[in-house]
Amino acid sequence: MPNQTNLLFPKSFLWGAATSAYQIEGEHLSHGKTLSVVEKNMNKNYADPSVASGHYQHWEKDIELMKELGLKAYRFSISWPRILPDGRGKVNQQGIDFYRGIINKLRENQIEPIVTIYHFDLPQCLQEEYGGWSSRKVINDFEAYCEILFTHFQDVKYWLTINEQSNMFQLPYLMEFDPSIPLEKQKYEMNHIMTLAHAKAIHLCRAMLPEAKIGPALGVIPNYPATSKPEDILAAKHADDLRTYLFMDLYMKGTYKPFVWNYLVEKGIEPTIEADDMECIQTATSDFIGINYYQSQVVKYVPPGVEKKELKMNYDGDNDDTQYDNVPGIFEGVVNPYTAKTRWDWDIDPIGFRYLLNEIYDRYQVPIMITENGIGTLDELTENKQIHDQERIDFLRDHLLQMHAAIKDGVEVWGYIPWSFIDLLSTSSGFRKRYGFVYIDRNDTDIKTLERLKKDSFYWYQKVIASHGRSLFL
Ligand code: BG6
Repeated sequence: MPNQTNLLFPKSFLWGAATSAYQIEGEHLSHGKTLSVVEKNMNKNYADPSVASGHYQHWEKDIELMKELGLKAYRFSISWPRILPDGRGKVNQQGIDFYRGIINKLRENQIEPIVTIYHFDLPQCLQEEYGGWSSRKVINDFEAYCEILFTHFQDVKYWLTINEQSNMFQLPYLMEFDPSIPLEKQKYEMNHIMTLAHAKAIHLCRAMLPEAKIGPALGVIPNYPATSKPEDILAAKHADDLRTYLFMDLYMKGTYKPFVWNYLVEKGIEPTIEADDMECIQTATSDFIGINYYQSQVVKYVPPGVEKKELKMNYDGDNDDTQYDNVPGIFEGVVNPYTAKTRWDWDIDPIGFRYLLNEIYDRYQVPIMITENGIGTLDELTENKQIHDQERIDFLRDHLLQMHAAIKDGVEVWGYIPWSFIDLLSTSSGFRKRYGFVYIDRNDTDIKTLERLKKDSFYWYQKVIASHGRSLFL
């Protein structure tokens, strides 16, 4: 039983920060690497992935900064097309050496590597060859890729299988779909295939690295009802089922939620399930759930006949032009009048974080690792090269306090790995939307010096880590 009085963060708590390969590395078509699907499809109005944060050149300096920040853990992803330029087969030794160097230097600095196997970057060649995630062929290729990682990086103790499987089917730039197949049908087929790939990775990890801890990282947006009308309460529950618990129940219980399955069957969009699929999924138990939390959402009930609305995101951060999507007959997103918004219209809701952590822990009783949490801001460089990102400090402090409250509530949280360590290429909005503790001197159109500069939030987080969270309460 957790001690309810005066609880601070557990002793072994992993204070960290996160990034992903295509968002920081650059050199996306050199040193043996080939194109990935997300790099091809990311928002063309902003910077491209050819330089990103220049991490491929500056990784040693970046790890020195991690050390200075006091990080206990660093979450990063390995790029599949950097390891396997053809998607499978011949291994790119330069890619192995690059990540080997990073892991060694992290270890030398007592920083625990937390490795994401797949962060949106399917090799484009596999998309072209057999339609990527729409074909079961990808499962073997993914497993072979995992085997290479588990062979070369046996000293990694924490693995994340797939980043944000839930978002992969919501956002327009993370996947490619075949226009000749009805979109919804295709999405649920792909989701099933991706779940099998996740399960195979877990089975393989158990066989090859029995000491390692492995789990998924899921992007979760809890849904609140717009009013206390029973229809709206049910709409929020159904939105959670379709947008979160479909994925989480598959990962954690190895089953399709009955409400979701019946919905899919009614629409004629249920995935094809082959003989051993569900057993493979059910027996792939995760050690923990990785949660990426940025915001909550409000929904209301809408009747079956309403017009279908797609999500339209605010990409430029200049005006509130988000259009929430709907599922006719089930729910529609609406504005929450009680929460502040970021420039990109994302709801700022620290209490939602505590609510969500309790909700997930109640359902699955599995430890949770916060694998992303953060705020995209504009961040200006002053004349004397300072960055006063008070908005980020406020956001992170408020979320950390609510996370601490959740721990006091009894939720087991292994670590806090906010997004992001350095400024990086936001997939939706380029370099304009910054997330890091470390400022990278570049913008969307000018590569500038790529100098690394510590923001105010860097010094703030440094104190949080050094005091093991006590500074949050001063
Ligand atoms: C998460 C992703 O969805 O959100 C990250 O795992 C991403 O890759 C982050 O950068 C923030 O989203 P965005 O669109 O602002 O970059």
